[in-house]
Amino acid sequence: MSSTATPQREVFATRGAFIFAAIGSAVGLGNIWRFPYVTYDNGGGAFIIPYLVALLTAGIPLLFFDYAMGHRSRGSAPLAFRMATKVAEPIGWFQTGVAFVIGIYYAAIIGWAGCYMFFSLNKAWGDDATGFFTGTFLHAADPGVSFEFVPGILIPVILVWIVTLGILLLGVQNGIARFSKIFIPLLVILFLALVIRALFLPGAAEGLNALFTPDFAALADPAVWIAAYGQIFFSLSIAFGIMITYASYLKRKTNLTGSGLVVAFSNSAFEILAGIGVFAALGFMASTQGAEVSDVADSGIGLAFMAFPTLISEMPGGGLFGFAFFACLVFAGLTSLISIVQVPIQALREKFSLGNKSSILIVGGVMALISILLMPTVTGLYVLDTIDAWANNLGIVGAAVVGLIVVGWFARKLPVLRNHLNAISSFKVGWFWMIILGGVTTLVLAYMLIHQIILYATEGYEEYPANVTGIFGWGMIGLLIVASIVLSLIKWPKKTLEDADAAIADSVAEKELKGEH
Ligand code: ALA
Repeated sequence: MSSTATPQREVFATRGAFIFAAIGSAVGLGNIWRFPYVTYDNGGGAFIIPYLVALLTAGIPLLFFDYAMGHRSRGSAPLAFRMATKVAEPIGWFQTGVAFVIGIYYAAIIGWAGCYMFFSLNKAWGDDATGFFTGTFLHAADPGVSFEFVPGILIPVILVWIVTLGILLLGVQNGIARFSKIFIPLLVILFLALVIRALFLPGAAEGLNALFTPDFAALADPAVWIAAYGQIFFSLSIAFGIMITYASYLKRKTNLTGSGLVVAFSNSAFEILAGIGVFAALGFMASTQGAEVSDVADSGIGLAFMAFPTLISEMPGGGLFGFAFFACLVFAGLTSLISIVQVPIQALREKFSLGNKSSILIVGGVMALISILLMPTVTGLYVLDTIDAWANNLGIVGAAVVGLIVVGWFARKLPVLRNHLNAISSFKVGWFWMIILGGVTTLVLAYMLIHQIILYATEGYEEYPANVTGIFGWGMIGLLIVASIVLSLIKWPKKTLEDADAAIADSVAEKELKGEH
């Protein structure tokens, strides 16, 4: 008899529900908004090599690691790390903190995309999409820190938070899983239609050439590799608590690795599809302007909100195309945002014995409030860009490295996690998984992390003033570290620890070990 779960712990009703929720979490702004410009910025076609290496050597192995951690203890990130070894708890809190800050800016981008759905219909940007985005829409001031609000963005960001918290209030099965089951198929159909349309535009081939023509020199640059790992982690929703949390809602016997492979390959397929669609469209734009693709492919955040609107204006039937493109961003973004916000909700719920609904309202409410205070301001764009760079390239990568060192090297828990995966999964992992994860990946990630820290420390970021990178980059990471340590010093409720102990004792792997199975 299983008497392990806390009374309020929720579950996914079926494995299918979990897979939809996990794909919903993975496929997000990272695939449609981030992947194309990160690829383009990091050597175009050559980026596919570090990307695939990162997927196979770090993405999928870490996805399995997260699943095993969350499922074995049936706990949030801090609890799962705590159950692996006591000193690891701050790592779980740090991952939770990273999810917290990502949620704050993620909601803003969904809000922008929601506005752009409607702007597309009458091409509200006129003939200056860049000026419209930074001027008329964002009212962006010079990079700095200001709390001057931009009312036009305030309402959409508030709406995004209302929808997100509303879905979460419906629960893990009736909210998260059901919403993903409806929106993911819709997203796939809509996005496929967009990509096919883009591929038939004149000049599409030029765009694809720009995306896939390798710049092999880029492979010698460690920053390109860290961008590939950072992209895979962000995109697969790993190393910042999400997959630990989702796996903790799974029933005792669930095919973990089989599900993981479905999720990982679906996510990458969607990501590469997004790259193809976006660059085919940019190829068309370049050909109508008689320009090079590199001239129209604005880097960074601008790709979706500056280059795309221009394209929408230029193509026949562009209004509808734009509406559908930004609708895809909204759907994909929402199914990911709910998973991001659920991480701190579940962690604080367990630590402070909060009820399901009150934890959503308190934790989600605080996140929403910070998001609403920081993002719809005249400097929100730079704050967002800085938090995104530090949270991904230092926060997520750092959490992965330190997590592997502490859990793998010091606590030597990789064999236990491997046994846990193998006892219930179809695809078995063996010594290769442990060596890749505990050896090669840890060392490569550690090297890249140090390189990136030095780079940001010596060269700054995007020529932003020191107060922006100081507060929202270094300061944010520092605050997360301090908060993680403080939170891990607070005692867990006795019942929560007992439940986690019981979950471990009740796992198939432990029972096999004791000869009970
Ligand atoms: N995995 C989510 C994304 O790709 C966070 O956007």
